[in-house]
Amino acid sequence: MSFIEIRDLIKIYHPKESNLRVPALRGVELNIEQGEFISIIGPSGSGKTTLLLLLAGMTEPSAGYLRVGDFRLDQYTETDRSIYRRFSVGTLWQIPNRNLIWEISALENVEIPLRLLGIPREQRRKEAKEMLAEVGMDHRMNHKPKQLSGGEVQRVGLACALAHKPLLLLADEPTGELDSKTAGELLRYFKHLNDTRGITAIMVTHDFDVAKATDRLIQIVDGRISGYSPTADLKTISDIHQVYLDRYGGLQLPRHILEKLEVQQKIAISEEDGRIILSQNGDSVSNKKMKKD
Ligand SMILES: Nc1ncnc2c1ncn2[C@@H]1O[C@H](COP(=O)(O)OP(=O)(O)O)[C@@H](O)[C@H]1O
Ligand SMILES: [Mg+2]
Repeated sequence: MSFIEIRDLIKIYHPKESNLRVPALRGVELNIEQGEFISIIGPSGSGKTTLLLLLAGMTEPSAGYLRVGDFRLDQYTETDRSIYRRFSVGTLWQIPNRNLIWEISALENVEIPLRLLGIPREQRRKEAKEMLAEVGMDHRMNHKPKQLSGGEVQRVGLACALAHKPLLLLADEPTGELDSKTAGELLRYFKHLNDTRGITAIMVTHDFDVAKATDRLIQIVDGRISGYSPTADLKTISDIHQVYLDRYGGLQLPRHILEKLEVQQKIAISEEDGRIILSQNGDSVSNKKMKKD
């Protein structure tokens, strides 16, 4: 059984100020194994943050099945979800002041998730120091975030996200505000913690170079999973050749292929020697065969 299982997940936002219904996820299907380090990549507005918020128990699905470990998030009340958030997930956001409190030291920040679990002062101080050492920030533990560089702030944020030893680490564009060298450094700490702690880590990004630092990449377009691939096989995003076939036989063709071939809405499909063949402009395989006969 996979660690995370998502079936037909739908999220529709109902902004209060209008009668609009905004579909953000339109039937996401996905399995994630324990200990995987994966990236979710897609253009702006494709539903990446929404998927992360659902996995974090920070919003509820409109429909569908969503399980993380033994937690059936699709059936949870707000109270259930708040307990899940406190014990089981760590989150890291792009904007540093969503991760840290600016007025207190790095060490005090990392102690907060431990305090919420009721861990006594001495022990939580010890654990917070150990966690800061794991992200190479123990020498600056008494500094406040404003005295640290952008990369250091995100490393302290990572320590906060993992201090309570969650099952799942969720990060939304965590390198978005960093230059590429500093981003690379942060990603190495991600990889290190994924390796040494076996934590399942999911990182959202729109940057292919950032996604390359993870083991597997999942592409989301218009609220649906369109492709996936181990990153070791990829030189560019156009190298994604595996598409996801959902339970209803639906698949989403990669955008780069649709754009390159200017594919029309109607395409012909046929099966030949165990292969599925899609063709366009009415030039279907069966037509060709009939012509030959
Ligand atoms: N709170 C919200 N209320 C209404 N619409 C939203 C809300 N959050 C996101 N959306 C819409 O849902 C879609 C997906 O958004 P999001 O998940 O933030 O995408 P991404 O992170 O890939 O940029 C977009 O069309 C966005 O405008
Ligand atoms: Mg986003």
